Amino acid sequence: MSRKPLIAGNWKMNKTPAESVVLSQGISNRYSRKWNKVDVVLCPPTIDLRSVFTVLDFDKSNIDVGAQNCHWEPSGAFTGETSIPMLKDVGAAWCIVGHSERRDYFGETDSMVNKKVRALAESSFNAIVCVGESLAVRDAGDAVRFVCDQVRAALAGLDAHEAEYCTIAYEPIWAIGTGRTATPEQAEEIAAAIRATVADLVGEQSAANMRVLYGGSMKPENADGFMACPNIDGGLIGGASLKVEDFCELVEIASAYAD
Ligand code: PGA
Repeated sequence: MSRKPLIAGNWKMNKTPAESVVLSQGISNRYSRKWNKVDVVLCPPTIDLRSVFTVLDFDKSNIDVGAQNCHWEPSGAFTGETSIPMLKDVGAAWCIVGHSERRDYFGETDSMVNKKVRALAESSFNAIVCVGESLAVRDAGDAVRFVCDQVRAALAGLDAHEAEYCTIAYEPIWAIGTGRTATPEQAEEIAAAIRATVADLVGEQSAANMRVLYGGSMKPENADGFMACPNIDGGLIGGASLKVEDFCELVEIASAYAD
């Protein structure tokens, strides 16, 4: 089963709308036909989505736009939140869900993550569902169980068709923004366990089709190690996605692993 590599940039709370035009234009300028072998997604702050979409759409560069969060209700009294129809309207087709920073700093629970994942699938919107253990959990030898529980909670209630809209990003919390990465062996162990859990939930075929990404200080220097793992299909890139050179190099590296 061949899965198309996916490289997604998570800009986090960086870049004003004006700055987002410069960064997305810089990336789009480097677009080449080779990139068609990879799904490339830029996830800027919500307020930048329209500008980034406009740049990419004008350039016809085949790069998608994604949000970093959404609410599960289509509209209503939820001050400060953004709905999926709003994200669609500004051209987004992807949404990161359950990033560890949202879980840790904004109290996002497994149940909220599940509501978002289900709402996205019902709207035919692609979800990048983040899971990952803390250092304490890893040191206790509990990483596989912890991450697989997060996957079960996030995908609860989804059928095989809805699961097609999901990508899982394994992001060990201790590797995010720290410069410290998991080894490819550690990442592959968890990625394989994630795939087995998905098979258990929605069937072998869906599990074989679902992309599993690695995230956590992934950069051009270490990307080959992860891309070569049989169960890893790309990366969710934080820091390196803010640098045109690094992000484009990551896309090129991933293209070498496409069929
Ligand atoms: P990082 O972030 O690449 O800066 O470690 C990854 C992420 O948080 O998605």
